Amino acid sequence: MSFPQGFFWGGALAANQVEGAWNVDGKGPSVADVATYKPNTDVKDYAAHNAMSDAQIAAAMADPSDAAYPKRRGIDFYHRYREDLALFAEMGFTMLRVSIAWTRIFPTGEEEEPNEKGLQFYEDLFTEMRRLGIEPLVTLSHYEMPLALATKYNGWVDRRVIDCFTKFCHVCFVRYKDLVKYWLTFNEVDSILRHPFTTAGIIPSRVPADQMAQTCYQALHHQLVASALVVRDCHGVIPGSKVGCMLTKLTTYARTCAPADELAAQAKNLENLFYADVQVWGEYPRLILRMFERKGITIRTEPGDDAILKAGCVDFVSCSYYMTMTESVDPHAERTPGNTVLGVKNPYLPSSEWGWQIDPQGLRYSLIELYDRYRKPLMVVENGVGAKDTVEPDGSIHDPYRMEYFRQHIAEMGKAIDEGVEMWGYTSWAPIDLISASTNQMSKRYGFIYVDQDDEGRGTLERRRKDSFYWYQKVIASNGADLA
Ligand code: BG6
Repeated sequence: MSFPQGFFWGGALAANQVEGAWNVDGKGPSVADVATYKPNTDVKDYAAHNAMSDAQIAAAMADPSDAAYPKRRGIDFYHRYREDLALFAEMGFTMLRVSIAWTRIFPTGEEEEPNEKGLQFYEDLFTEMRRLGIEPLVTLSHYEMPLALATKYNGWVDRRVIDCFTKFCHVCFVRYKDLVKYWLTFNEVDSILRHPFTTAGIIPSRVPADQMAQTCYQALHHQLVASALVVRDCHGVIPGSKVGCMLTKLTTYARTCAPADELAAQAKNLENLFYADVQVWGEYPRLILRMFERKGITIRTEPGDDAILKAGCVDFVSCSYYMTMTESVDPHAERTPGNTVLGVKNPYLPSSEWGWQIDPQGLRYSLIELYDRYRKPLMVVENGVGAKDTVEPDGSIHDPYRMEYFRQHIAEMGKAIDEGVEMWGYTSWAPIDLISASTNQMSKRYGFIYVDQDDEGRGTLERRRKDSFYWYQKVIASNGADLA
């Protein structure tokens, strides 16, 4: 297997799931700070579980504690990032994906001037990464838009949010132009219909049910325009910079080879890919425009939007990859949850404790599909498995299930590269235990590094190396050759 020389190896984080310090040094509240702990979430209706009403937001903001709102405390990366970066460097990371919390820079999204303390935090973080030889890959929007923009404008539904976002991004480009070369605009840009509040600050109770799809696609259009503007601005401010799109790669197989099942699966895949289509090709695919027509969806655009989309095409394509699912027209087909989706169960695949179907070969399939479609370099910027870990009496953590998951997925990625897919890097999700995006659990652990904190926030926050820490260290040192 031949990972190219200079292939980036590392891990990925999101500010809202690790930083904590949610109201420190001038940071404003984001949509993540009102997300509630859901230990027994039946993730079969993900959108409903993550929807927030105005009353729920008001109740959350009246509660200053982090008891029910775990993302407010994260894993205290804000104060411990030097220790964590040292551990990543010890594993040999050459890339770390992080996001910038918009509300550290513009607390409500609409201030005239940015918050200097927020800017300084990320300057220190990126400087330390560079000192350790870790290339930053920075996401500009990872489920953490200002709560104030959600409540005032219903988030991205309002076109004025484009200006707020592009201003925030411009400030980041100017400030970090000597520190950051690789950028992503929107994390999992395709997630807007699955969880509109988290992705786009849309408060569903304000929208009639039959208008929800229309509203989400309208907000999405604003995100796509903003993304294109930001790509162009980044290229102007930071010569040689590379900006990517980021897709949840939700590959769907047909449950059977019945043509009707194949068509159902194809529809799912086209819907998943179209978000990246727009960002790569700078225009909406004809099939999607027809789908809008059929569903009575009318997107309000402004003169010039087409030109903006065309002028802001991304340089590379990135994705998260956790699982695959199948689709069927059979109404009785058994369904199982995945990453914020509910797919038909695949009898050939095992599942994680959260029901996500583990499919290493599906990663190879997905990378080949993406490369063949877009002909752009790829990065896998999230891949991993949530699991419950046990700390042994001597403090060690044995996690063979995690090593096996990664071993198989990295092997399949290597085969995709051997088959001709051009790849720049791989950042696992997540190199250190953090707060889960969907359930706000701490006990759904992803890391090579264990964090001593439970779901209720009890623990010392001490970091410990799991067995997988040493395994990944070997993988990186051998540039992917030693997966044993
Ligand atoms: C991705 C998100 O979809 O999945 C991450 O970009 C998230 O933010 C990851 O953490 C895993 O999902 P979860 O719900 O297990 O944290």
